[in-house]
This record gives sequence, C-alpha cells and structure tokens, in this order.
Amino acid sequence: MAPRVLITREPPGSSVDRISEVADVFLWDHDRPIDTDVLAREAASSVGIYCMLTDAIDRNLLMASPKLEVVSTMAVGVDNIDLDACRELGIVVGHTPGVLTESTADMAWALLMAASRRLEESINYVQQGRWEGWELDGIISRDVSGTTIGIVGMGRIGQAIARRAEGFDMEVLFTNRSRVSGAVGTQVDLEELLGRSDHVVIAVSLNEQTRGMISTQQFAMMKTTANLVNIARGPIVDTDALVAALVEGQIRCAGLDVTDPEPIPVDHPLVALPNCLIVPHLGSATDRTRVAMADLATDNLLAALSGADMPARTA
Ligand code: DGY
Repeated sequence: MAPRVLITREPPGSSVDRISEVADVFLWDHDRPIDTDVLAREAASSVGIYCMLTDAIDRNLLMASPKLEVVSTMAVGVDNIDLDACRELGIVVGHTPGVLTESTADMAWALLMAASRRLEESINYVQQGRWEGWELDGIISRDVSGTTIGIVGMGRIGQAIARRAEGFDMEVLFTNRSRVSGAVGTQVDLEELLGRSDHVVIAVSLNEQTRGMISTQQFAMMKTTANLVNIARGPIVDTDALVAALVEGQIRCAGLDVTDPEPIPVDHPLVALPNCLIVPHLGSATDRTRVAMADLATDNLLAALSGADMPARTA
C-alpha cells in the first residue's frame, strides 16, 4: 500500500506530481495555512508531512501521529517543528538550506537600503503629490557606503549579506554562537556589535537562546542613528521594545521582513510608524528560489520515504 503523505499547501513546480507517484497524497488545496483540525486529522494517518513554516508541528501533533516517519518543511527555519520530540519519536526532519540564501540576503539589502535612504517616505511623497520641485533639504537620509554593518548570526545567509557589504566598502562586524573562520568581517560580541554598527541585521535562527534577544537593553546599546533589519524570525526582536525604541528615537529606522505576531495586524502601532518598513515575509519569495525550495523539500521527503539519506536533514 502506498504511504500516506500530507502536503499542507500546494508547492510550485512538480512536487505534488512527484510525491503522488509513490504516495497517497492529501493536499490542502487552499491559499492559506491548513486548518489546525485538518492538520491534526490528516497527520494522524500519515507517514510523511510536507509542511510550511506556518504549520505548528508540535509535540502533541507528533505524539498523536503514530505512523509518522518524516517531516519535510519547505523552509530553512525549523522553529515551527518540535525537533526534540521528532528525535525522541524517531521522525526524521528535512529543510531547505542553501537554495534560499541569495534571495534572502538580497531582501536584507533591499530593506537596509530602503531604511537608510527613506525610500518608503520618498515614494509616498511623490504619490501624494507633495513633490513640487528639487529641494535642498528635502528628504535627507543616511549613507550606506562606508558605514558599519553588524550581522547577528553568521550562517549561510549572514555570510551572503556580508559578501554584499564588501561592494559598499563597509566594515563588517558579526556575532555567531561558534567561531567562524574565513567569513568576511570581524567576529565580536553582541554588545560591541550593537554599539558600533550603523545597520544591525538579524540573520540568526529562532530558538530558546535567540527568542527576545533584541529588547530594551539592546536597543539602548545601539546608536540613535542605527537601522535595524530583521530577515530571520519576528520573535527574535521584542516587538513592544522595538515600538518604544522607534518612537523614542533610540534607533532611527527598522526594516522588517518578519514580525511578531505574523501577520502583523494593520492596526498594530508598528504599522503606523513612519520609521518602520514592513514587508510580508518575502525573503525567499522569488520564482526561482521558491521552486528550488519546493524541489529540495520533495527530494528530502522522497529520500526518507525510500529509506535513503535526505539531501538536507536537520534532525
Ligand atoms: C525560511 O525558509 O525559513 C524563510 O523564512 C522562508 O521565507
């Protein structure tokens, strides 16, 4: 009998066809996260789950899914999956590192540039018909070239962000849990990075050590002219502390690809702040990257179903 596989959102490319060749597939065929009751019901009879970062693959769900052997997520971040429970239950977990590195680093740079050069305000200025002619002291912004970037988390994405900084003649500082050799820049501790950087970019994965790591105390260490960019996960930054830092001018601007909560309600104070740019978690959202992620997640799932090693296993 073909193994049952739950796919929680239709991935781009040929993933569903490829998986259907070897499995009995249940596909959540809607353009929104799978309902939690459907996720629990279908997981309970599945051997494999092909999921998205929006699905909570928690201990309760895993314990109630006795046939489950593999979880394959179409994301590099695995904070939505209880990895300890997977290890205990002998469930292997695959993810999609590498294929989204460059597009996510590009997004970090798009936000950094937009924040530094006040792009959102400038575009609004023109669209609102307020541009009456060249102004000597109109929308004055901050330089990017020749400044200092501090990257929190020097994994693949952090390193790709640092490589781009070389083209802007920037000093690169970074923090990392372990020593990193051969990367662009200088490894320092978080306090030094926050105190010296003109742009602080969060590129670390979310776990119990990094949850809330940027809060009131850390904002107080930053330059009042600094920009904060987050392309990792919203809960790494304490949202209330961020609002206060932006309102009180403790930092200059924030560029966020991710928020906490996500999606951020339209009436949330962060949304109304002119010095906060928010895009809806688009780091990997390019046509090429999303297909590459879907393909790698499929390769991981199919490998595990056939008893082979996954190309990208995380637990
Ligand atoms: C990931 O893969 O973790 C990214 O956040 C997806 O955009």
